[in-house]
Amino acid sequence: MNKVHLSTKNLSYTYPDGTQALKNINITIYKGKKVAILGPNGAGKSTLFSHFNGLTEATSGEIEIDGKKMEYDKESLLKIRQQVGIVFQNPNDQLFAPTVKEDVAFGPMNLGLDYEEVKRRVKESLTMVGMEEYSDKTPHHLSGGQQKRVAIAGIIAMRPNIMILDEPTAGLDPEGVKKILDILNKLNEDGMSIVISSHDIEMVNEFADEIYVLNKGEILANGDKHEIFSNKELLKKAHLKAPVTTEILHGLKEKGYNINTKRIGLNEVIEELEQLNVTIKKENID
Ligand SMILES: Nc1ncnc2c1ncn2[C@@H]1O[C@H](COP(=O)(O)OP(=O)(O)O)[C@@H](O)[C@H]1O
Ligand SMILES: [Mg+2]
Repeated sequence: MNKVHLSTKNLSYTYPDGTQALKNINITIYKGKKVAILGPNGAGKSTLFSHFNGLTEATSGEIEIDGKKMEYDKESLLKIRQQVGIVFQNPNDQLFAPTVKEDVAFGPMNLGLDYEEVKRRVKESLTMVGMEEYSDKTPHHLSGGQQKRVAIAGIIAMRPNIMILDEPTAGLDPEGVKKILDILNKLNEDGMSIVISSHDIEMVNEFADEIYVLNKGEILANGDKHEIFSNKELLKKAHLKAPVTTEILHGLKEKGYNINTKRIGLNEVIEELEQLNVTIKKENID
């Protein structure tokens, strides 16, 4: 099973003005996983993602997709962009056609598919993200969350097997966040590998199988949510706040309760509290 989908080896990148944005990044994305790159503003998340489909070429180090070293000639890049779909943070960077359906059609049309196939894919992708009824609307008249879903549909229509989303839930209301996560979970259930970036701890806690913590262009740690979110020192070092559940468990531990501070999932916290077997005095109850 555990097949590597995408990996970087000692990847470093320095911008032309001398800013070293990435330093020796080593990450491994396994097939079918949901991975989060967690880091504060300026950590290097967007710079890293722009390497994943060859938009940016590493200053040193390399990237492998499906075990093949990334090449930057036109033909290789075209193939990579079918395999790796990227959804940018700002939908305005992605949506430009006069209607939603034309926007979603753009990618598959560029693949040289026939008209019927393009039409089929547009319909299927817009249905998948719940935006079919907006087919004839102008993307710029949609809400932020709707634009994000159209941008995702445009990528789905290319049928990539790995999807990379830069801060997919930033700026969305709770319902908008839930809609995006539902779409990503569904795509993942159908076999797609998903990589997101974020600084939203609670969302990542809920969503990701595996987390990489990125700060100042360096990977500080990687592991599952239990390892990452129970480590308050690590989060502080990365300028991130611990999830509320971590604070509750650590708070109880400091008060002397025998509690496993790694069990930071919401259901796990409830179980931990139950096993404490605390007797709550009933006061003022008839
Ligand atoms: N075009 C650019 N030229 C020079 N420096 C840049 C450029 N884009 C980003 N940077 C710098 O690279 C670092 C990483 O930025 P970025 O990848 O956008 O971080 P993030 O997406 O995590 O917020 C920051 O220090 C930022 O100022
Ligand atoms: Mg960014």
